[in-house]
Amino acid sequence: MANVLVERAGTDVVLLRLNRPEARNALSPELREELRDLFLALDRDESCRAIVITGDMRAFAAGADIKAMAEATPAEMMERDDETNWAAIRNCRKPVIAAVNGYALGGGCELAMHCDIIIAGKSARFGQPEVKLGIMPGAGGTQRLTRAIGKFRAMQLLLTGDFLSAEEAHVAGLVSSVSEDDAVVGDALALAARIAALPPLAVEEIKRVVLTGMDMPLEAALKLEMRSAYLLFGTADKGEAMRAFVEKRPAVFTGK
Ligand code: HXC
Repeated sequence: MANVLVERAGTDVVLLRLNRPEARNALSPELREELRDLFLALDRDESCRAIVITGDMRAFAAGADIKAMAEATPAEMMERDDETNWAAIRNCRKPVIAAVNGYALGGGCELAMHCDIIIAGKSARFGQPEVKLGIMPGAGGTQRLTRAIGKFRAMQLLLTGDFLSAEEAHVAGLVSSVSEDDAVVGDALALAARIAALPPLAVEEIKRVVLTGMDMPLEAALKLEMRSAYLLFGTADKGEAMRAFVEKRPAVFTGK
């Protein structure tokens, strides 16, 4: 059985459903490799303009598969080359929305944080409980969480393994918006469809500049932003969008 189910939602949105409900969608090595291959393929697939990733009502993902790690040595962990799996998600040019119900813990929280937007159901729980297993986050939990919610809240979560509710995560800045539990996937798909209908080169460039700029000094990031903004003036969709505005008609985008 596939560890990740793929559904087309409309013409240009792809929904990925983690499919290990019996293990709270724990991220087994096989599941991660499937996710890697899917992200590499969707990045190249011109008909895919946005991706939504979700789990089930009980868990988005409860983290790395503990049973597959319990006896692992450092060398075995290195051989798994998880970095390549994460890089496929991190480097995906399409906008990625996490639709989170239930637990997003450890690698599950890190998976959500690899996404561009996080929509959480009211009952969702976020945390990095690795410390309780005598390890620590290895896929950005110490870094992305700290950048998202600040040092002092991140330290409290990372050092205790406590969970944040969806509302607490929203207030802290980890979650983009909170939905009713049963509306999360629908809301994420609707948002993905709205983004997918916008000029894709502009969407891609905005994502690139936000993510690249976060790691740069402000002055350099502002220069990057301005160059990218000017670059988009060369696209057909920019011409169409601005002409359509002036002519008071709907724009028809080609993605060029
Ligand atoms: C493997 C897991 C799992 C996990 C749950 N299961 N989480 N299996 N890896 N991460 C399995 C359980 O063993 C159990 O299997 C079944 O899923 C249901 O789990 P329960 O605990 O019975 O469910 P529940 O009471 O609802 O509690 C849910 C939960 C809890 C709060 C999510 O399962 C939990 O605390 N899980 C571990 C979360 C965690 O520590 N994540 C961080 C992992 S480390 P059986 O066979 O008994 O039915 C990580 C980073 C590693 O992510 C970094 C390495 C560099």
